[in-house]
Amino acid sequence: MTDVPANRPAAFAMRDPRDPAFWDERFIRGFTPWDRGGVPQALSDFAAHSPPLVTLIPGCGAAYELAALCELGWNVTAIDFSPAAVEKARAQLGPWQERVVEADFFKYDPPQALQLIYERAFLCALPRTMWPQVAARYAQLLPPGALLAGFFFFDVNPKGPPFGITAEQLDALLTPHFERIADAAVADSIAVFEGKERWQVWRRK
Ligand SMILES: C[S@@+](CC[C@H](N)C(=O)[O-])C[C@H]1O[C@@H](n2cnc3c(N)ncnc32)[C@H](O)[C@@H]1O
Repeated sequence: MTDVPANRPAAFAMRDPRDPAFWDERFIRGFTPWDRGGVPQALSDFAAHSPPLVTLIPGCGAAYELAALCELGWNVTAIDFSPAAVEKARAQLGPWQERVVEADFFKYDPPQALQLIYERAFLCALPRTMWPQVAARYAQLLPPGALLAGFFFFDVNPKGPPFGITAEQLDALLTPHFERIADAAVADSIAVFEGKERWQVWRRK
C-alpha cells in the first residue's frame, strides 16, 4: 500500500535546487517541464543575424541550443552540474557531445574569453537569494562589449523553481554591469513560461 494516489507521482526526495541531486532526481524520473525539446525561435533569429560568438550555456539541461549553434560554426560550451543532465544532453548531441562539460557555473573557468552567455531557465532555476551571485558571475565572465542574451521569466509566485523576477528586480540586478539592448515578447513559449517570459539582450558595460 502507498499513500500516494495512483494518478500523482511520488514526491521528490530532493528539495533544494542549489544541490545537483535535486536536478538529477528530476532528470532521472523524466520530470522536466522546462524542457522545450528544441531551440526557441528568438535564439535562432538572433543567431541568424550574428557573427559566430564564443558562447557559454550555463545550466544547459538537454542543451538543444548547443547543436544548433555549433552547426552554424559557433564555438559553444554547455555546462551543467547535474550528471544526469549532462548524460541526457550528450545522448542526443551526436558530434557535439564533447562540448558539454559537467561543471558548476560558479566555479567553471572558460578556456577562452566569452562573447556571449545564453540564458534559458537558469536564473529562474535558482532561489532568489542566489541571483546577486549569478549576476556577479555573469559580469565576471563577460568582458566589456560581450553579451548576455536569452529568456527571462517574469512572475511573482514565491514558490519555485521556476522563480520569477519582476522587471524592476531584473533591472536592479543587471544594470550595474549591463545595458539592455533588446527586449521582445516571446511567441513560442512552452506551457510553464507562457505569457511570462521575454527575450532580452544585455551588453556588458
Ligand atoms: C530548469 S533547468 C533548465 C535547463 C536548460 N537551460 C533548459 O532550458 O532546458 C536548470 C538547469 O540548471 C542546472 N544548474 C543549476 N545550478 C547550476 C550550477 N550552479 N551550475 C551548473 N548547472 C546548474 C540544473 O542542473 C538544471 O539542468
